[in-house]
Amino acid sequence: MRFLSTIPPFNGIGETVRKKLVAGNWKMHGNLAQNSALLLKVAEGTASLDKAECAVCVPFPYLFQAQDLLRRTVVQWGAQNVSQYPSGAYTGEVSAGMLADFGCRYVIVGHSERRRLYAEGDATVAAKVGATQAGGMIPVVCVGETLEEWEAGRTEAVVTGQIQALLDGLGAQAYDRAVVAYEPVWAIGTGKTASPAQAQAVHRMIREVVAQGDQRVAERLRILYGGSVKAANAAELFAMPDIDGALVGGASLDAGEFLAICAAAHESR
Ligand code: PGA
Repeated sequence: MRFLSTIPPFNGIGETVRKKLVAGNWKMHGNLAQNSALLLKVAEGTASLDKAECAVCVPFPYLFQAQDLLRRTVVQWGAQNVSQYPSGAYTGEVSAGMLADFGCRYVIVGHSERRRLYAEGDATVAAKVGATQAGGMIPVVCVGETLEEWEAGRTEAVVTGQIQALLDGLGAQAYDRAVVAYEPVWAIGTGKTASPAQAQAVHRMIREVVAQGDQRVAERLRILYGGSVKAANAAELFAMPDIDGALVGGASLDAGEFLAICAAAHESR
């Protein structure tokens, strides 16, 4: 992995403090009864964690439940997808305005499952990022290489291309009200995780690419790691200087695991 050095490391004087974010991605899991138990446990367990931010991204039908149970807690909530269109004849779609109605703070955009299973390309991702921001919410923009790309040594080219597509489409300012999640596709739901050093190198590279558009924006940008994050590996990932939290799938469905990851973020650096 090439290590660029056009911007100084963020560990000296004038360090930009980026509050860590742990966001749960429930995917298509849950029901009213299970969610209620999980949300109440997460709310209770995070009450004293003021050095990190925690959020859950739930399926659309449960946004009202999340809003209802989390509104007086420190836990934020959000959605896993959004339409790129504001309204109209788009059967089955959900607009940013609708998500904002339910108090969403975050919207996951361009998750690899959406890119792969629903053919969402970089142009669609950029449009959804714009729609999310226009609705006053923060997109969690997912990038990452597939197993074949990783094995072919194409990680840097693929991830740079995904980051650059948004820079080209929306400008560096798009990253000022966004969070990026680096998720190697081969690590999602597989139990395999990139090593902290591997992940750090890619996170650093992402920050360098954004810095070429706007250095201040790059310094402020939170870059989450995703892919089989769990209580057992969270602390070592969060110890890396450019890893600013995690996007958590499977482990976010288990209150104990998720809370341990949130606590690791709270205690890190
Ligand atoms: P995982 O999923 O934690 O189950 O690997 C992460 C994600 O898909 O966001």
